[in-house]
Amino acid sequence: MKQAQTYTAPMSRPRIITVCNQKGGVGKTTTAINLGAALAERGMKVLLVDSDPQANATSGLGVDPKQLSASIYDVIVLGRPLREVALPLAGLPGLTLVPATVELAGAELELAELPLRESRLRLALDGLAEFDYVLVDTPPSLGLLTVNCLVAADRMLIPLQCEYFALEGLSLLTRTQALVRQSLNPGLSLAGIVLTLFDPRTVLSAQVVAEVRRQFGDQAFETVISRSVRLSEAPSHGLPITQYEPNGRGAAAYRALAEELVLRTSPVAA
Ligand SMILES: Nc1ncnc2c1ncn2[C@@H]1O[C@H](COP(=O)(O)OP(=O)(O)OP(=O)(O)O)[C@@H](O)[C@H]1O
Ligand SMILES: [Mg+2]
Repeated sequence: MKQAQTYTAPMSRPRIITVCNQKGGVGKTTTAINLGAALAERGMKVLLVDSDPQANATSGLGVDPKQLSASIYDVIVLGRPLREVALPLAGLPGLTLVPATVELAGAELELAELPLRESRLRLALDGLAEFDYVLVDTPPSLGLLTVNCLVAADRMLIPLQCEYFALEGLSLLTRTQALVRQSLNPGLSLAGIVLTLFDPRTVLSAQVVAEVRRQFGDQAFETVISRSVRLSEAPSHGLPITQYEPNGRGAAAYRALAEELVLRTSPVAA
């Protein structure tokens, strides 16, 4: 690990960042895993919460969802304390995973019948002072699971892929943010928009970057995540890019994103 340990003072409570976009395949999970790993590499204590029944963040970090007896489902639906299902990851110091399993697919319907149905993750995350950051990976939908993740969050981080239609659906996401702010979480703000799957060979990628910068200014992170075969291979080895190819472009990009996020969410900036 070449990354300097730039972090010193502990934060009083974790920054809770929900990675969301109801569009599928835009890089939510890739960002949650690799940003989490890059923050942990800086010496941060990071809790990664997998709130997607696809359990891609879980398997992408080398944990087999089929072997698990407890998961985020037990926390959100059954009210089990989150610490009981959290797994510190061997080989990834500083990174702890709250895994998902396919059982979570039923949660959407079950939540509808439960008291405090939008606030169950928020309550579960209360009092976790030992972490600096909580990153929450969400499913590609705006159902009750994602609403729980937004109600629990201080900020949302939106990955946008550099492709046609990238901006479509963003207004729906912004509207959902506004509804959550009005009702259950007035403090919910935007951590930023991160452009993903950038392909320097296509004019379209550059056009999407320019359009997002025009519309959103510095709400878009300066760091752009390029397409990289290594980034797409890493989860099949159960590793974040910072370990799979520590000196490659993908790791450098996610370290730069971590740096920006830390600056944006430092006690002074927040
Ligand atoms: N920068 C990248 N370069 C190459 N492949 C990438 C990159 N980012 C993501 N991918 C690949 O694109 C696919 C979708 O990425 P990912 O799973 O992170 O998206 P997602 O938004 O979490 O998807 P879903 O909505 O299904 O949860 C995956 O196969 C992933 O490996
Ligand atoms: Mg995903």
